Amino acid sequence: MCGIVGYVGPRIATPMLIEGLKRMEYRGYDSAGVALLGDDGVDLRRAKGKIAALESTVATRPIEGTTGIGHTRWATHGAPSEKNAHPQRDCTGTIAVVHNGIIENYTVLRKRLIEAGHVFKSDTDTEVLAHLIEAAFKGNLEEAVTEALNLVEGTYGIAVISSQDPDKIVAARKGSPLLIGLGDGENYVASDVAAILQHTRQVVYLDDGEMAVLTPTTYRVFDLEANDVPKNVNRIDWDLEQIEKGGFEHFMLKEIFEQPQTIENTMRGRLVTEEGFSKLGGLNLTKQEMLDLEHIIITACGTSWHSALIGKLMIEDLARIRVDVEYASEFRYRNPIVDDKSLCVVISQSGETADTLAAMREAKRRGAKTLGLVNVVGSTIAREDDGGIYLHAGPEIGVASTKAFTSQVIALTLLTLKLARLRALSVEKGRAIAQAMEALPAQVQQILENAAAVEAIADRFRDATNFLYLGRGYNFPVALEGALKLKEISYIHAEGYPAAEMKHGPIALIDENMPVVFIAPHDSVFEKVVSNISEVKARGGRVIVITSREEPSLAGKIDFEIRIPETIDMLYPVLAVVPLQLLAYYIAAKRGLNVDQPRNLAKSVTVE
Ligand code: F6R
Repeated sequence: MCGIVGYVGPRIATPMLIEGLKRMEYRGYDSAGVALLGDDGVDLRRAKGKIAALESTVATRPIEGTTGIGHTRWATHGAPSEKNAHPQRDCTGTIAVVHNGIIENYTVLRKRLIEAGHVFKSDTDTEVLAHLIEAAFKGNLEEAVTEALNLVEGTYGIAVISSQDPDKIVAARKGSPLLIGLGDGENYVASDVAAILQHTRQVVYLDDGEMAVLTPTTYRVFDLEANDVPKNVNRIDWDLEQIEKGGFEHFMLKEIFEQPQTIENTMRGRLVTEEGFSKLGGLNLTKQEMLDLEHIIITACGTSWHSALIGKLMIEDLARIRVDVEYASEFRYRNPIVDDKSLCVVISQSGETADTLAAMREAKRRGAKTLGLVNVVGSTIAREDDGGIYLHAGPEIGVASTKAFTSQVIALTLLTLKLARLRALSVEKGRAIAQAMEALPAQVQQILENAAAVEAIADRFRDATNFLYLGRGYNFPVALEGALKLKEISYIHAEGYPAAEMKHGPIALIDENMPVVFIAPHDSVFEKVVSNISEVKARGGRVIVITSREEPSLAGKIDFEIRIPETIDMLYPVLAVVPLQLLAYYIAAKRGLNVDQPRNLAKSVTVE
């Protein structure tokens, strides 16, 4: 989704801004631009499409200045085009704004501004901000921005510069992430730490309702009433190499192969194997509160919603607490039954997904305690939840979520152990689960070593137009996840179904052209799934099975087999999803598609 970067200091800012924008490419965007303070106002270069297009515009018409802002835009209001790309300027050309988020009352504001004589050059909601700041400007940029923001409804992360109040960037945040980077005689602003990590590791996160003024040597954070807000300086430990591809052709493949380590990282220091329980320091729930819990809601979107479905099965099975799983986008707009006896578990890789954040706030408003399972440290959900379990999976750059999913399932297993051991689960059973968890990193490694076999299957199906994914029990959410991975990066239509539900409709789709992927490890429903496999084979479907041992009952019923190691039922999703991630990856790569930035998708969906 949109990205912001800004620089104020002694150096020519252009290369740094473009480099910063490139670091945020993974977020997804459709145009990009930079603005720099020059002698006669604010100079702009913008281009539709990739940053390479912006670079060639800048090469043809160079642009220089030591104070500048840059942006990658993912269109919401107005088509992707040069005129709609950010930065946006006011009528005088002396004020430039970059903006993430949506100005909800922009139609009214735009009409009012046009009546007052302002001339609009784009279709964006953002341009309204530039004109509002122009109208309020009396010589001090932060005062004008404050006045403008007081008229605005909606969400924003913004950075503003003006040649009438030079050597300064004004930034503000409401509902869209923003941070300040502190350098030596120079300062930065960004919506994503990746944009500035090359230059500084010292950052200050802005919270909603906060503004900041940056000069080369100072920064000040204050609220919309101009009261100073004391802030902590955080040190970022992620390495740039961690964010880069590390020798793999795509980030997605790198991230799939990182899973032995990332799964280990999610468990590290938390699993007490002998006692069969978990230590989760950040829960912020007393033993009594955990015992009193009558109801859990897990809310999330996309892949994170799939891990939520697995969490429900685990918690209900072992802790015997009723769990509802809700799409965050639905939960926020209905009248859910949530109160102070409920725990709302919020799952989000980015910690910035607008619907998930809104669902969490709604649950809080109704009295529930909130618990965030989040990957990005310092993200909004992580800062606003009552307690949390960080995934510790490291930066996930590929738009398709992979390692975050397996870490989410691990974090949910740790939570289940915690709740279940307090209630019904014996030490022996808890220990067996913990031992099975400890074996996972090596088992995932074993699956990855067999990636070539999955690639060979991908080669056979690269031209397929439809796919079905079927599983039961713990592996039904895996079927959904496998289908989502395939459709989002390969653009092949795919559906996930509970295997037995197939005969209530989707079975009509099956013919000799339909590849059907069964997730059928040797678990408690294995025999049932074998019957479903027979039903597909009898209709000529091409069966690909993910299973965990040599099974005579499968003989003659399958076309391709992918073997995964054995584990306990509740942990099969962690193993079974890995070949599905690989299958989707190899099919998309063989189709020559942009695996890391699939069309129409954004890594972090910060609009509802
Ligand atoms: C799919 C994918 C999306 C995200 C969803 C939620 O591969 O990446 O479905 O899972 O947008 O994102 P987070 O987890 O950041 O809240």
